[in-house]
Amino acid sequence: MQFCRLLFFALFLKVANSDVTSKTNDIISRLTYEINNWVTIDEKSEEFQQLIHNLSLPTNLLRKDWRSFDGENSENICIICKSVLNTFIEYRRQGMSEEDIKNKMIKICTLLKLQSPQVCDGVITINLPIILYIIDSKPNLTADTICGVLLESPFCPLDNNEFNWIVNIDDGPSKWIKPEESNETINILQITDIHYDPKYEPYGNAYCNEPTCCRKGQNDTNTSDKVAGYWGDYHYCDSPWHAIIDVLDHVIAEHQNISYVYFTGDIIDHGIWETSIKGNIESLNKSYLQIYETFKNIPIYPILGNHESHPVNQFAPRTITNDEISTQWLYKLMADLWIDFGWLPESTRSTILQGGFYTVSLKKGFRIIALNNNVCYSYNWWLLYQPQDPDGQLQWLADTLLQAEVDEEYVHILAHLPPGNTDCQTTWKSEYIKIVNRFAHIIRAQFNGHTHKDELQLIYGSDDNSKISNVAWNGGSITTYQNVNPNYKLYTIDSKNYEVKDFENWIYNLTLANINLDQRPLWYKSYSFKEEYGLSDLTYDSLQTWLFKLMNDEKLLNRYHGNYFKQAEPSLTEECDAKCMRAFICHVIVNLGDHEIKCE
Ligand SMILES: *[C@@H]1O[C@H](CO)[C@@H](O)[C@H](O)[C@H]1NC(C)=O
Ligand SMILES: *[C@@H]1O[C@H](CO)[C@@H](O)[C@H](O)[C@H]1NC(C)=O
Ligand SMILES: *[C@@H]1O[C@H](CO)[C@@H](O)[C@H](O)[C@H]1NC(C)=O
Ligand SMILES: *[C@@H]1O[C@H](CO)[C@@H](O)[C@H](O)[C@H]1NC(C)=O
Ligand SMILES: *[C@@H]1O[C@H](CO)[C@@H](O)[C@H](O)[C@H]1NC(C)=O
Ligand SMILES: *[C@@H]1O[C@H](CO)[C@@H](O)[C@H](O)[C@H]1NC(C)=O
Ligand SMILES: *[C@@H]1O[C@H](CO)[C@@H](O)[C@H](O)[C@H]1NC(C)=O
Ligand SMILES: *[C@@H]1O[C@H](CO)[C@@H](O)[C@H](O)[C@H]1NC(C)=O
Ligand SMILES: [Zn+2]
Ligand SMILES: [Zn+2]
Repeated sequence: MQFCRLLFFALFLKVANSDVTSKTNDIISRLTYEINNWVTIDEKSEEFQQLIHNLSLPTNLLRKDWRSFDGENSENICIICKSVLNTFIEYRRQGMSEEDIKNKMIKICTLLKLQSPQVCDGVITINLPIILYIIDSKPNLTADTICGVLLESPFCPLDNNEFNWIVNIDDGPSKWIKPEESNETINILQITDIHYDPKYEPYGNAYCNEPTCCRKGQNDTNTSDKVAGYWGDYHYCDSPWHAIIDVLDHVIAEHQNISYVYFTGDIIDHGIWETSIKGNIESLNKSYLQIYETFKNIPIYPILGNHESHPVNQFAPRTITNDEISTQWLYKLMADLWIDFGWLPESTRSTILQGGFYTVSLKKGFRIIALNNNVCYSYNWWLLYQPQDPDGQLQWLADTLLQAEVDEEYVHILAHLPPGNTDCQTTWKSEYIKIVNRFAHIIRAQFNGHTHKDELQLIYGSDDNSKISNVAWNGGSITTYQNVNPNYKLYTIDSKNYEVKDFENWIYNLTLANINLDQRPLWYKSYSFKEEYGLSDLTYDSLQTWLFKLMNDEKLLNRYHGNYFKQAEPSLTEECDAKCMRAFICHVIVNLGDHEIKCE
């Protein structure tokens, strides 16, 4: 008891010093005290129960990203984060064992209803070794910093100098390449976000209370409209293997004229509480082999998704070599597969092993830079261990682009997270956008995945924020997770200057596919961009005009909205008022924080 009281007092002083409001502070102190009481003497006081009742999140937010919360929910998750971490960091610093911490954390996760008991258990069991390693090696790391990185909200601001860093970017002037245009084009296919679920069970349970449903062992339903479809399911479900075979077979049969394939990541399923290195290796090996056998001698340029690692989102720096927590197995597997299939030259191996990124010149004057920007994901614990430009990737990007400028090369950048992604740590994101703006004249396009939506982002300049400086195209997803149809994109690219001239989007209607079980899904071209939006070309001026049109033309915005969800029935029938529709436009705009153009 003495220990508890001392602990409480120390924690109280600590939180009292932080800069959140005093009301929030007060709740954090009380909750910290109560959690401590509960885990040490197993006593659930009246006060504790009331606090839990007041703070617990609405169940409809269980699957939502904490960073997207606002108002009271945002405050509550911050309070929970700080109180729980205060307690457990202190326990660890006092020498509590991993096993004890694990059991107590699972208990508190379940009690606070952060996830189901099984998911709490799985997620904590596989993440804790990394978290404890970081807490042990950073004696100054506080709950405020951790919650600041995780949430970056007004209640949980990130205030730590280790996160103020910059990349050394050549300050120009930009060296322009003599613009050349040809009447010839090449076709580039983009496929992304397969999310193959080896446990997918057709006719299984589509409405479970775990992050992913439709899986073997979850068959506790007997209501026919809650049964998983054969080809996939709009609910929180990933792809069965036969659906992946189907899309690959369809693409190669339908399009004989593909020069390159961009694959922008996420092969592993959303079963984030029960991944394993062995399971991930099996899925990655199997999927890449299938892709290779489908496209044979068409070169593929692949990158890593945040789901490829184990646990999800965890990308350790190269200095971490302990097998249980390092990422080296993944980088080694990818280097071996990508190079052995003949897609990448041997010269890419060293940076793939360093951090999962590489560059390659496809032809004279044309280069691909493939990033592993999953390192910037706010839920990558390793950001707390080494916040400054993980693996030196951004410095490498700036240097590689400078060399490309000298060599008069045009560049396509492949990266899993879109540049404006709100889950990418702020410093990393703004340094990335600075680099893009410096070299915007040679970066012809960026290709991303991760959101599973058919969308694009327009990046605005650092100096002149009224002008588009670059465009990032999102490939959508093969998975139907969640409430979207499967899709892929076929881009027409100028064969001299590598500009995107247009693209086609291909989809099928999952509802229909699951009804007509005796036939393969009916893939069709849902639209081509220029025609769909009445554009004569895709120059930045035209895209700027298009954006203003979206703001003022309700019909056009509706069309964008329908395409965004790839015409999936459940998304289109969800209510979306004017304010909700506006958010889709705002999402298109990306710029540096201090030059924010407002989405008005
Ligand atoms: C819970 O919320 C109610 C209503 O806002 C408030 O009266 C009560 O004091 C809160 N309980 C605790 C323990 O904070
Ligand atoms: C921790 O903080 C103390 C005092 O501010 C400082 O002297 C020390 O260098 C810090 N240690 C690390 C590992 O950052
Ligand atoms: C492209 O085609 C247009 C009209 O067909 C022609 O005027 C122009 O010279 C061609 N440009 C090149 C680079 O071939
Ligand atoms: C292949 O694509 C090129 C460039 O788009 C085009 O010129 C050619 O006619 C196409 N060939 C076939 C068989 O579609
Ligand atoms: C789920 O289904 C399998 C096979 O159909 C059966 O063996 C198992 O008992 C079921 N589990 C539950 C929890 O209903
Ligand atoms: C099956 O559904 C019926 C009616 O909806 C319900 O009464 C019954 O409890 C359900 N059984 C199981 C095992 O879920
Ligand atoms: C990948 O799969 C192939 C074919 O099944 C197998 O021969 C190979 O050993 C596997 N590689 C790994 C790393 O599992
Ligand atoms: C998809 O198919 C279902 C079932 O036939 C139909 O009701 C729905 O309108 C279709 N959706 C689209 C966008 O065509
Ligand atoms: Zn994904
Ligand atoms: Zn992803």
